[in-house]
Amino acid sequence: MKFACLFLALMSLSVGAFAQRVMPNIDLPPESAYDPDRPPPSFHKQNRERFLSMLPDSSIAIFFANDLKTRNNDVEYLFRQSNSILYLTGLYDEPNAALLLSKFPMPFQNFATTEILFVQPRNALMETWTGRRLGPEGATQKLGVAAATIIDSLQPYLFNELLKTYRALVKRVFISYPAKDYADSDGDYAKLVKTIDARLREDKTLVVQNASPLLGQMRQIKHPIEIDLIQKATDATIAAHLEAIKSCEPNMREYELAAVAEYVFKKKGCEYVAYPSIVGAGENSVILHYNSTRKKILDGELVLMDMGGEYHGYATDITRTIPANGKFTPEQRAIYDLVLAAQDSAIAQCKPGNSFRAPHQKAVEVIAEGLLKLGLIQDKADYRRYFMHGTSHSVGLDVHDPGMAVLQAGQVLTVEPGIYIAEGSPCERKWWNIGVRIEDMILITETGARVMSAALPRKAEDIETLMKEKGIGNLAIK
Ligand code: GLY
Ligand code: MN
Ligand code: MN
Repeated sequence: MKFACLFLALMSLSVGAFAQRVMPNIDLPPESAYDPDRPPPSFHKQNRERFLSMLPDSSIAIFFANDLKTRNNDVEYLFRQSNSILYLTGLYDEPNAALLLSKFPMPFQNFATTEILFVQPRNALMETWTGRRLGPEGATQKLGVAAATIIDSLQPYLFNELLKTYRALVKRVFISYPAKDYADSDGDYAKLVKTIDARLREDKTLVVQNASPLLGQMRQIKHPIEIDLIQKATDATIAAHLEAIKSCEPNMREYELAAVAEYVFKKKGCEYVAYPSIVGAGENSVILHYNSTRKKILDGELVLMDMGGEYHGYATDITRTIPANGKFTPEQRAIYDLVLAAQDSAIAQCKPGNSFRAPHQKAVEVIAEGLLKLGLIQDKADYRRYFMHGTSHSVGLDVHDPGMAVLQAGQVLTVEPGIYIAEGSPCERKWWNIGVRIEDMILITETGARVMSAALPRKAEDIETLMKEKGIGNLAIK
């Protein structure tokens, strides 16, 4: 509250104080200049052209940027752009934007274009508070879109120009919405999205449909630029896991290992975590997406660490499971080796032409057989009690990226079998609270697969050897 009052006071002061302020110069340090390995405008242009080539005749498509989201009072979550805007424009840093693509040339100012990007206007005061804006001119110059104007023009342009004068040319409208919970927001931008959506749907002669399936199809096969960024996210995450593994010792808290990993993600240039870090010790190792990370890690427990960074919009997803004290117990080792064998067999199924289900089917076979041998189940069909998730998902701009049916070169997926034996399970107590997942990143190639995360040890004995070393989490901080 105090912060809010101060903020408001400064805001009102600033209107006068900064009235003469010059506009921050976008030629000096636009964020993209700090990160020269962001994809170039030509990548996004190619994506727009590919999308347009897939778009049916007489169609237009609107892609909305993400909105700012409130965390509490006047504090916002860090902004993360919508995937469609990232993929099609490279506008990383600004909310309140939309891209309009059209199968036919649209009239715009004095020319015709198939693409118009609507962005926030330049505003010296707002830019002093919350950061530089490209503005329409910057958008055409820096992002290479053919046409750009301000976001306030979107609704009038769409309904008073395009759908009035050129109505006969438009039969379908594809829409890509901001991240799901935009509907809960009541800000101006959320209202704009909702109003445009409702007005389009009012017209029963227009077919309004979600653009995600078309975009999803495109996003399945990664461009070499995307593979490079996923590899950078993966390399940062390998370094993060190595430090976390070396740092682990009994009596640390779960969050200390998450902190080690998240420090390394940022140190290596990741802007965000790709998903909240999962660090679960003992009874928490059997909770698939546990992320409260408050428990003390006890001697003799297993620690499951599923942690991945996001680099320039691209995710990675890696899990290692380690013994808190550096040495697996015989039961932990038996389960670990079984999951590892399942993962090896599943990875061997990762090749072009195979079904997406093939790695999972193999992992299930190995785990069901192994659980039966260990006496944990009496019927192979009961494997589901301990292995209750799929083995793979695609990874890209989303950690759970649009899926595929058949494996093809250029796809990136995880292979992540697991066994989770919760307390109270119908087996001997010695197995309880053993949760193991091993997850790696796989790139399908023309001839097979490349394990993008191969540099991170997986074998039990290699993990034990690594744990003899110290990590950055063992440094004393005063
Ligand atoms: N980290 C989420 C998952 O493995 O799918
Ligand atoms: Mn995963
Ligand atoms: Mn994971």
